Amino acid sequence: MLFSNLATFLLLPAAIRAAAVSNSTGACNNSPSLCSKPYDQVTYLGAHDSPFLRDESTDFSTSGNQYYNSTVQLSAGVRLLTAQVQNPEDSNALHVCHTSCDLLDAGTLRDWLAEVRTWMESNPNEVVTLLLVNGAEATGSALTAQYEAAGLASLSYTPSGSSSTSQDWPTLQTLIDSGTRLINFVPDLNDDSGAAYLMNQWNYVFENDYENTSPTDYSCEVNRPANFVGRTSEAISKGRMPLMNHFLYAQSGGENSLFTIQEPNATYTPTTNGDSGTGNLETAADACKQEYGRAPSFILTDFFNVGPAIATVDRLNGVSNPVGRRRVSTANEAPSSGAAAMSRMMWGLSVPLLCAYALL
Ligand SMILES: *[C@@H]1O[C@H](CO)[C@@H](O)[C@H](O)[C@H]1NC(C)=O
Ligand SMILES: *[C@@H]1O[C@H](CO)[C@@H](O)[C@H](O)[C@H]1NC(C)=O
Ligand SMILES: *[C@@H]1O[C@H](CO)[C@@H](O)[C@H](O)[C@H]1NC(C)=O
Repeated sequence: MLFSNLATFLLLPAAIRAAAVSNSTGACNNSPSLCSKPYDQVTYLGAHDSPFLRDESTDFSTSGNQYYNSTVQLSAGVRLLTAQVQNPEDSNALHVCHTSCDLLDAGTLRDWLAEVRTWMESNPNEVVTLLLVNGAEATGSALTAQYEAAGLASLSYTPSGSSSTSQDWPTLQTLIDSGTRLINFVPDLNDDSGAAYLMNQWNYVFENDYENTSPTDYSCEVNRPANFVGRTSEAISKGRMPLMNHFLYAQSGGENSLFTIQEPNATYTPTTNGDSGTGNLETAADACKQEYGRAPSFILTDFFNVGPAIATVDRLNGVSNPVGRRRVSTANEAPSSGAAAMSRMMWGLSVPLLCAYALL
């Protein structure tokens, strides 16, 4: 304890007390109470399609799933990032792209992994999970080459024992102390030669259905992997970790029905990620907790900052005073950049000037 007794502590000016309380030393994933929990017993907030942004950098692409980049996501408390690995046309390069690199190309896999590494290096008490959908059908060694190049291989956790069973997970503190605090899942990775730290997702994690277009569609039942469909309680008893997809796609069809790219239903996000209204996260998470007999390990959201979704995750973790997080706006819109704010300000100035001029 920094202060020898409570009385001394209370005598300190309020500003110093606040600084001491927000010092995250001794916390794991933003709370001291999570350090002793096994990895699989913590609930993590996930940013679905983490690198695919709906902001100025993508011209506010409707294929974007997040308003803030992966660095901001992590600083705000997100601890699961998902992405899709694809090849740009006529290329073997590995990029992170949404569905196709023609639609939304967020750059190379290596650069994105390096962004994660930079954040993890400056946040040494944090355990982070990556889930890479391997749309490029890259081999394990092609993927690990990018991990090596980005400096993430040495931070990655390798499971002990047979890779085809779930296991007794280490606590967050153990992962942190051993320096292997990045957990990596890749669905359907069969060629994992030389890639022991890229875990085949389906040996460890099950998911509910992710294709929901109506807020009454959500289900907690296993949708993937196929061998656990209809056997949710068995998946739980065999130690598979529940990943709860909780995001809404816009209704497809109509004019664009020949070319349906699923886009997030952004207008409904305040309810989807919130705590009231049809299909809200708070109620849905409790329903899954009830069904599973345990809280979901992962809650995957679009536009993670809205809701805010992290409030539900904190409640499930019993965390009431998170430390070391950077606040992010909960507004259901992209942050305004300097340029956009400047142009609004100029507009704000010019309108009165124009009006004044008109009066002359
Ligand atoms: C947090 O507190 C510890 C002592 O309790 C101190 O050593 C460390 O420098 C502090 N960190 C920050 C970022 O203030
Ligand atoms: C992420 O977004 C923040 C805020 O907009 C920005 O300052 C930062 O440079 C971005 N980081 C990366 C790696 O793009
Ligand atoms: C988004 O979801 C709401 C609630 O179901 C619905 O009213 C609205 O039409 C949806 N928007 C789109 C673009 O699908």
